Amino acid sequence: MKTLLIVYHTGGVKTAQMAEAVERGARAAVDESGGVKVVVKRCADAGPGDLLAADGLILGTPENFGYMSGMMKDFLERVFYACEGKVNGRPYALFVGAGQDGSGAVNSVERIVTGLRLKQIHDPIIGLKDLTPEILEKCEELGAAFTTGLALGVF
Ligand SMILES: Cc1cc2nc3c(=O)[nH]c(=O)nc-3n(C[C@H](O)[C@H](O)[C@H](O)COP(=O)(O)O)c2cc1C
Repeated sequence: MKTLLIVYHTGGVKTAQMAEAVERGARAAVDESGGVKVVVKRCADAGPGDLLAADGLILGTPENFGYMSGMMKDFLERVFYACEGKVNGRPYALFVGAGQDGSGAVNSVERIVTGLRLKQIHDPIIGLKDLTPEILEKCEELGAAFTTGLALGVF
């Protein structure tokens, strides 16, 4: 069975709501297609073993001070050398909760996951200001598409 790992941090509510929408979409797709285990963890609770066991990864972080959140950076620091060379080519995607920008969080995460040789399979989703139903729908679609792709082995 394939495993989808969703790892996120939230300092408030926005990125958590985006994570819930991604998970909702993923679990709905599991019900339809089966064959994928969905694991959701906060950054503080996730480690190298989770990433090594995953066939695909979706990351979620707020943008803080023009960068990913400190907790996401801590997660990536803890997994990088343990996983470097062992997860090459695995698919990943990213969602960001931000106030008015989000590009700093996207760029900082992309730099690191490029070093892990993960393969981006979806454009980053950035939720600005107040979350809209459209953004939450995009998050759900991401979870569903990622899960279906894993089930079908298309990545
Ligand atoms: C310490 C701090 C720094 C922030 N820096 C940025 C920033 O650089 N760019 C931006 O667009 N929003 C920034 N924000 C706004 C957050 O990204 C935004 O409120 C986000 O929705 C928080 O997500 P959360 O509710 O999941 O914690 C910052 C917020 C905090 C608390």
